[in-house]
Amino acid sequence: MPAVIGAIRESTAGETRVSLTPEVAGKFIALGAHVLLQRGLGITAQFPDSAYAALPESGVSWVDDADAVLAGADVLLTVQPLTLAQIQHLKPGATVLGFFQPHARKDEVRALRDGGFTSFAMELVPRISRAQSMDALSSQAAVAGYKAVLIAANTLDKFLPMLTTAAGTIRPAMLLVVGAGVAGLQAIATARRLGAVVEAYDVRSATREQVQSLGAKFIETGVSAEGQGGYARELTAEEKAQQQAVLDSRIAAADAVVTTASIPGRTAPRIISRAAVERMKAGAVIVDIAAESGGNCELTRAGETVVHHGVRIVGPVNLPAQLPYHASEMYSRNLLNLLKPAISGGNLAIDWDDEVFAKSCLTHAGQIRHEATRSAL
Ligand code: NAI
Repeated sequence: MPAVIGAIRESTAGETRVSLTPEVAGKFIALGAHVLLQRGLGITAQFPDSAYAALPESGVSWVDDADAVLAGADVLLTVQPLTLAQIQHLKPGATVLGFFQPHARKDEVRALRDGGFTSFAMELVPRISRAQSMDALSSQAAVAGYKAVLIAANTLDKFLPMLTTAAGTIRPAMLLVVGAGVAGLQAIATARRLGAVVEAYDVRSATREQVQSLGAKFIETGVSAEGQGGYARELTAEEKAQQQAVLDSRIAAADAVVTTASIPGRTAPRIISRAAVERMKAGAVIVDIAAESGGNCELTRAGETVVHHGVRIVGPVNLPAQLPYHASEMYSRNLLNLLKPAISGGNLAIDWDDEVFAKSCLTHAGQIRHEATRSAL
């Protein structure tokens, strides 16, 4: 019997993405697997059921009820973390791939462990060259960076580009990007395409060249925070003060600021204080991608737009869900690229010596395999 790969319509409020697109479903079937789909699973991402109609009939089953997918799938693909109720409905011995937010969803991790389920968390996929095609944090961060600049452009009362018109010349807006990781670099590229003058800052000085290659100016503060595995480490008090003084002057000069700075598994670093907002231009805009993890700006409120001293501070949540078609396409391919080496003749066989599986495994055989999560519990 081939492995049954299941996908459901996401139940989390505001989630519009789908874990299994028609393209990727076809690839799983070509690998010999069978797919089990909940009707309507892709509607909010603009993949209606009819978009799956070209799949070979023998490779697909449809059900109305999400619980029927949970009960029938050997491998379940999700976007958002499963709820406790959903975990209870999983097929014994099932494998689940998706985001699990293990630092925040401890009860769900315990339930996965106690149920003996194998779970692979997309946030744990190691950041090695070979795993780039499986890196959902990166693919979704690129979406967020792009969308954040569009929100900034749409919120501003100004043009981003320079315009030379019969009514005179319009000066280009200055857009500052804080944090030049995957989201930040995509934000820079998008803002440049829209014609803004772009400046960017990151504590990792290794980003300088990447920022410059996109046509933006890198802000030098004399502080570097290179950490392990390509991530940033936390800064000391003196480093923070030095960084802040330089940054504050550039924030005051900006028309729009897009903040993307984060430290994995922790509250986002505070980079824009209330006082810094009060020194900004009237009509300036901050789009804080880190809103959900506490915000890079002191005044950010997740899911809201705060107006303070004439500055609008937008705190978007789940930006990838605002561009669900392509976000799903990339995410679904990330899942396929991760799983593909484990599917042979339609059956699932995980190679536990493979670093990617070993490191992204959250729970297996009644144990929590991810060390940081195990000690946090
Ligand atoms: P992230 O989302 O964890 O953080 C975003 C950015 O904020 C990072 O560049 C970080 O240095 C920066 N940041 C943190 N604290 C800051 C502060 N106080 N002030 C200013 N900036 C601050 O990072 P992301 O985007 O997920 O990845 C970071 C890097 O990891 C990438 O740029 C890349 O070098 C590496 N990477 C490697 C991959 C691979 O080899 N497979 C895949 C993806 C990323």
